[in-house]
Parts: sequence; C-alpha cells; structure tokens
Amino acid sequence: MLSRTTIASQQPTLLRGEALAKAVASISFPFCEIVHSRRSFLAAAWTLRRHGIVCLRGAGSNQDLTSIRHEIHNLLENIQTNDLLKLQEIAYLNLPNHRVIKGYHNFRDANRAVINYRVKRPDGRTGSDAGMIDIFHPERLSCNLDKRIKNCLHEQLIQKLLLVSSLNRLKVKCRNLYLNQGVQDTRRFHCDGRSLKFKSFIYISDVSELADGPYCYVKGSHRRRRLWRNNSTFNKENQLDPFEFSQLQGTEAISLFAKAGDMVISSQKGAHCGHPQRPEAKRAVLVNMYQR
Ligand SMILES: [Fe+2]
Repeated sequence: MLSRTTIASQQPTLLRGEALAKAVASISFPFCEIVHSRRSFLAAAWTLRRHGIVCLRGAGSNQDLTSIRHEIHNLLENIQTNDLLKLQEIAYLNLPNHRVIKGYHNFRDANRAVINYRVKRPDGRTGSDAGMIDIFHPERLSCNLDKRIKNCLHEQLIQKLLLVSSLNRLKVKCRNLYLNQGVQDTRRFHCDGRSLKFKSFIYISDVSELADGPYCYVKGSHRRRRLWRNNSTFNKENQLDPFEFSQLQGTEAISLFAKAGDMVISSQKGAHCGHPQRPEAKRAVLVNMYQR
C-alpha cells in the first residue's frame, strides 16, 4: 500500500496565471451566444467532445441566483437554530448525528428532497467531503426553488448540446445542490465510473481562488484510454479505489474559477476533483447529472 505522500506526488500540475487563463479561455463560451448562434453551439459541443469540459459564462440570471441564495440562507438558518419541524415535512434530513436515510440509491430515488450532511468515513479513509451539505432534489423544497433552479439549469438546451457532442440522448437523472463550507477532506482526482455520464455545475456563488474550492479537471482525460489503463492497473496492484486517477504525473489540470451564474459541463469519465477549501470559504453549486 502506498503512503499518502507518494500518491500525492502523482497528481497533476495545477495550471496557474497566463497558462491557466489560456486553457480556460479555450473551453469558454458566453451562454447567450450558445443560445443565439448555431455556430457557437456547435463549437461548444465539439469542445466538450474533444476536451471533456466546457464553461458557459452567464447561464444563470441575477434574479434567479439571488432568490436561490436567499432560500438556501433561510434553510441553513432553520437547521442551525434547530427549527426543523417544517423542514422535516418536506425533506429527509440527514444530520451528522441523526441519519434517517442511507445510501446513494435511496437518496437519488427518494420521493422528496434529501438534505444530507457528509460525514467522515467510518474507516478513516480520506476523500469524505466531510462538512459538505449535499441536497438531493433541491427543486422539491419549494415552488419558487423549483422554478428558479430549472431556469438556471436550461435542461432542454443542455440535453441538445450533449446529444450533438456525444451522439447520445441523455436524460436528467438527479439534481443536487452542493453547499461547501470549509470542506478540506475532498476526494482526489477520480472519475465517476466509466459509463457515459455528464454533469452540469452552475455556480451559485463566485469561486475566485483555489481556497474557495474550484472544480478541477484534466482536459482530454475522458478520452485517454492508455492513461486510464495505467491508473486502473496501478489501483488494482495497490488496493486503491478503482475509479481514482492516482497516476496523473506529467499531466496538467485546470481549476475552474467562475462567477455566480457560470455553468461548467464535464464528462465524468475524465479526471476531476473539487479543490480543498480554506476553513471560512463558502461555495454553492447546483449540479445536474445526465445519463442514458
Ligand atoms: Fe466525481
């Protein structure tokens, strides 16, 4: 079994400064151009196919984002002040010391929202995202959130983009709201399995520096079969999780700094992770999962 330090040395180099700006610019498109120009739409679809990631700037409106932020703030305040009665009627509330529902499939298939506090793994393994609040089906928390969230997600347009990009008709499988506050034990670079799966991430708050916990991605890694095979063999030999990208030495990763309202779409077969945050940093991201 490898030590933590050895594995850390096999992570990619995070691009910075001019090199990062250039790499991110090459996958970025103004959202309004995607909507109005067939040419930009096709360019974004092609970029997603080639690099596994695109960033659509300005996909969410200020009114929708402000309203979502306001409701989230109230919700968290109710939890913190222990005013839970109304919440328990509309959501399954999985607090760190009081779990009412277990397992990803039960969260995904639940008939109402699930507010799930991530906790440390019982076996002490890293990558737990402890402290993160993962809300499944946040659109079910209120009529207003339903409207605002769906406005931001632009599902029909994104489904068309994914169809042109992957030549597959993909369905929305699950909507989530990730609320990260000072989350430091984030999972290292990994993929979410080897099947065709995309996620769209719409930032609800600005993410301007590494300590805010940006989404990070190795461009093109979704198509690099040999890279995947090397990782897979290494993971097997060292009893690592099969979907960890533990062998990324010599590769470069981008960190997606973004303004509230920007949307990142990525192929989850590619190497990705959320960067650890500084203790007081906050990040809110609305996530949509697309699969066959
Ligand atoms: Fe992931």
